[in-house]
Amino acid sequence: IKRIAVLTSGGDAPGMNAAIRAVVRSATSNGIEVVGVRRGFQGLHEGDMSLLGPRDVANTIQRGGTILLTARSRTWRSPEGRALGAEHLRKWHVDGLVVIGGDGSFHGAHYLMEEHGIPVIGLPGTIDNDLYGTDHTIGYFTAVETALDAVDKLRDTGASHERIFVIEVMGRHAGHIALDVAIAGGAEEVFIPEDEKPVADIVHVIQESLRKGKASSIVIVAEGYPGGAMGVAKAIEDGTGLETRVSILGHIQRGGTPVSSDRILASRLGEAAVQAFMDGISGVMVGRTNGEISYTPLQDTWEKRKDVNRDLYRCAKLLSV
Ligand code: F6P
Repeated sequence: IKRIAVLTSGGDAPGMNAAIRAVVRSATSNGIEVVGVRRGFQGLHEGDMSLLGPRDVANTIQRGGTILLTARSRTWRSPEGRALGAEHLRKWHVDGLVVIGGDGSFHGAHYLMEEHGIPVIGLPGTIDNDLYGTDHTIGYFTAVETALDAVDKLRDTGASHERIFVIEVMGRHAGHIALDVAIAGGAEEVFIPEDEKPVADIVHVIQESLRKGKASSIVIVAEGYPGGAMGVAKAIEDGTGLETRVSILGHIQRGGTPVSSDRILASRLGEAAVQAFMDGISGVMVGRTNGEISYTPLQDTWEKRKDVNRDLYRCAKLLSV
């Protein structure tokens, strides 16, 4: 293996730069050249790529976003779009492609390999932590810290006004961020898509909180929970008549300096991706499971479901007494 390419795709996540850097530098250390593709699969389709050396990734480990830029490519969804991308990779004499992204990006990588025989390796880069085959995804730890910081601030104003705050966090169809933020932020209640809990339950929770002497409450809602934060707030106001405020944290959760856990995970996985190619492994996502590097067939990462930590869920409820 003489030359590999790397791209970031889908929603950006803090730590993607650390992963790019690790791919570039471990490849260079092993005598392998690296081509950086800009704007994910969109850029691959357009042939927007150039060689990346170790100095090109200097001073990036601490930066949020992705220096390679990213996109949610429409053209890549067509076989013709992918054929053009494969042609560009062949023209550049690329022996393998590292795709840093989430499940949508892994679909794209999978088809590229199936249809054109180009070896691919996926690195889990998404704040959602929703990929089967890795305990954590790159960007998740930072997103949780960012959301938690916001929750702490909202608690200050909520407590001062004796109000109820319903805070919506990201996670697409998954409740990992919501659950971690709820337990670490001391929330009274958390709504996640993995649980079928009816929204009306919140009325009883708030009434009980009042009875226990809590003047203000924090409720965390994962964006994937039906109705989102607005639905939960409406249920509270309709059921209790209490003043409620909604805060939807949104894309702020994707930005910022990656925390150390994301940088370390990205560095380890970036190195392991290059090593995997050298060992003749491809068609997998390289993740970390129980502290060890693990390989999961790309298709399994979206076909098998990664559950939330049910024990944490139970614990968060218990501690909100
Ligand atoms: O997958 C990352 C994520 O931030 C999700 O949490 C969210 O649902 C989605 O991307 C938002 O996508 P976009 O940036 O396209 O609005």
